[in-house]
Amino acid sequence: MIESALRRCLRGTAMVGLFFGWMLASPFAHAGDASSGADVFKSECSECHSPKQGKNKKGPSLFGIVGRPAGTAPDYNYSDALKQARWTWTTDKLHWYLSQQAKKANPGTKMKYDGLDDSKQLDDLVTYLDTLH
Ligand code: HEC
Repeated sequence: MIESALRRCLRGTAMVGLFFGWMLASPFAHAGDASSGADVFKSECSECHSPKQGKNKKGPSLFGIVGRPAGTAPDYNYSDALKQARWTWTTDKLHWYLSQQAKKANPGTKMKYDGLDDSKQLDDLVTYLDTLH
């Protein structure tokens, strides 16, 4: 009885160890914390953006934003400024874009956002955005 409980306990510890090993090895561990990023998203972005595929609000859906060329979400009516932006969103590009006023990063955009100055929140947010696939 006691022996099998002990064995179960050891197995549990090994699983936890594996899990943390995976967390450390995973690419998410480098930048920020995706679950805090989800909270930042809720308070800073969700008024205008949905993380769901195909759901546009005031702004376009941010599903799959990392790796997507700027201004290309289906069925969203972009400003000319963003339509003409010639970049593809990477985590670095999102960092750059979201750390300042949107109209500075992309003059003529209709995104009204003043930028996020807290660099930890920005890291977490961008890590979260990278999970939207
Ligand atoms: C007040 C509304 C509003 C808020 C708040 C807002 N956005 Fe936007 N966002 C927009 C609009 C509108 C556009 C489309 C801009 C255009 O067409 O010029 C946009 C565009 C974008 C784009 C470009 C998308 C593409 O398909 O190229 C990204 C990325 C983005 N927003 C990220 C964010 C993030 C992340 C936040 C939160 C930190 C945020 N936005 C906050 C309204 C908003």
